[in-house]
Amino acid sequence: MSKFDFSEQSTLSSTRLDILILHSQKGGPGKTTLSCNIAKELARRGNKTVIIDLDIAQPTIQHIFHIKDVKIKHTINDVLLGETAVSEDVLNKTDDPNLFVIVAKENVEYGEGLLSMLEEIQKHSFFALHEMTKFLLRMGFRYVIYDCAPGYKLESVNAAAIADARIFVLRPSTFSYEGAKQMLNDIYKKLNIRSLNFFVFNQLPPTLKEESQKLLNSWRDGIVELYEPETITFLDFLPISHEIMEMALKGEYIFPESDPMYGKLTKMVDTVVEAIDVMKKAKLMEDK
Ligand SMILES: Nc1ncnc2c1ncn2[C@@H]1O[C@H](COP(=O)(O)OP(=O)(O)OP(=O)(O)O)[C@@H](O)[C@H]1O
Ligand SMILES: [Mg+2]
Repeated sequence: MSKFDFSEQSTLSSTRLDILILHSQKGGPGKTTLSCNIAKELARRGNKTVIIDLDIAQPTIQHIFHIKDVKIKHTINDVLLGETAVSEDVLNKTDDPNLFVIVAKENVEYGEGLLSMLEEIQKHSFFALHEMTKFLLRMGFRYVIYDCAPGYKLESVNAAAIADARIFVLRPSTFSYEGAKQMLNDIYKKLNIRSLNFFVFNQLPPTLKEESQKLLNSWRDGIVELYEPETITFLDFLPISHEIMEMALKGEYIFPESDPMYGKLTKMVDTVVEAIDVMKKAKLMEDK
């Protein structure tokens, strides 16, 4: 008996799974917040979607979707360590029937050797992520969102390598901008085999002096130029939102539809989804 009652069309394996990752060079620009909201929006549009917490050292997503410890059978750690075959036991339900969560293990004790665990994960992650993709296809998923750890962790880089679309998140700071340029140059351009690339600035002051906006515009253009002759698409400048900060105080992270951030998020989702569709259709034509 299956753990989940998948609807008829998705019980069978799907022929198309789109993989999105959210990544950054520095910590804290808003990857997790945006990942969860993008996943929620894709599910709201009727797509069978799973969000995977790939921030092994600092898991968060379990709490965003209020998943109780007792409900969790397997975590992404078990899969990445090669300790378990990927099965339905990794999937956790949410209050949206289209949205599932794969959590990372909390409370990894130092006694268990966090550092050696991270090393083991790095060794297995490429193979494990491929197994995960095959499993999610079999389960009829349409979208998977990987919320990555910041920086050069190998599992994040491996997820970047298999993604259809990468969304790079930056803060409006010189550190974030310089770090982004470095990472895009060092890694993304070199992995630019088949993925679409996007970037978004998050947490802008609600009002900006003209000279600051000019500087930000020059950073936006600088990133696009850095990427040439390949393409990276600018998505938006997202403001810091006091509503989101107040919601975070209550443990709520999903943007209400009435919030202006939700309007901005839906436009970002439209852009990314359409671009993946165009890329995959072109690939289909090429293969014919
Ligand atoms: N636009 C925003 N307005 C207000 N608060 C925001 C906004 N974006 C993110 N935050 C808040 O900033 C904090 C960091 O966001 P988040 O955890 O999503 O970043 P992250 O990139 O996933 O961080 P890490 O690198 O540690 O994983 C959170 O408290 C979140 O609620
Ligand atoms: Mg995060």
